[in-house]
Amino acid sequence: MVRPIIAGNWKMNKTIPEAVGFAAGLRAALTSPPDREVIIAPPFTALHAVGEALRGSVIQLAAQNLHEAEKGAFTGEISGAMLRDAGCSYVLVGHSERRSLFGETDDRVNRKLISSLAVGLKPIFCIGELLRQRQAGETEAVVGGQLKEGLNNLTAGDIRHLIIAYEPVWAIGTGQTASPQQAQDIHRFIRQWIAEQYGPKSAAEIAILYGGSVTPKNIAELLARPDINGALVGGASLDVDSFVQIVTS
Ligand code: PGA
Repeated sequence: MVRPIIAGNWKMNKTIPEAVGFAAGLRAALTSPPDREVIIAPPFTALHAVGEALRGSVIQLAAQNLHEAEKGAFTGEISGAMLRDAGCSYVLVGHSERRSLFGETDDRVNRKLISSLAVGLKPIFCIGELLRQRQAGETEAVVGGQLKEGLNNLTAGDIRHLIIAYEPVWAIGTGQTASPQQAQDIHRFIRQWIAEQYGPKSAAEIAILYGGSVTPKNIAELLARPDINGALVGGASLDVDSFVQIVTS
């Protein structure tokens, strides 16, 4: 059994005081450690302060992106080592907003996954199809392609440190969640794909999260599906009460 994971992706939201206030509130609300892994992904500017606020708690820190190079002349970018330095243990890689708004290709995503693992950051590797791809019956082909390209050159040993987040793009921020069965079907497909490439042990152990309009209302039925091991939550992770409800549901 994979321990469920709930990760909050704040995107470009919250100042440092707001972020630290959230962290303190979340910490106070989770008095008894939940039987879930809890991760929050603040914006870069708040990472260090939130990391300090979470020190000694069960809540883990994630960044939302990284640059694949170790260091150098990449104005405005942030490396995996810097994220480790700021207190992160996880990093989102290949979120659909990075892919669609900032032109991240599967190849770039692959390099970012390799760089994260090299510095001991656990990547949350995001994949998912567009609405027109789903309507054209291409969901499995698209997701399979993202897995193949994104995981190029990664070994079973690497996969052990990686989380997959399936986020159908049409469900992100739209209020239109995939039905638990639609999500389960693709999660099963992903797990089978991992089994074929890396063997049954890797497939059984890998956490596959669902993302896209997850709320306190729909989390329980999503988590009840056998291949859904948790959630990557955007909008509903911005409010402490709603995030706590999702974590403890
Ligand atoms: P949402 O975002 O929960 O607001 O749909 C999810 C995500 O982008 O990770």
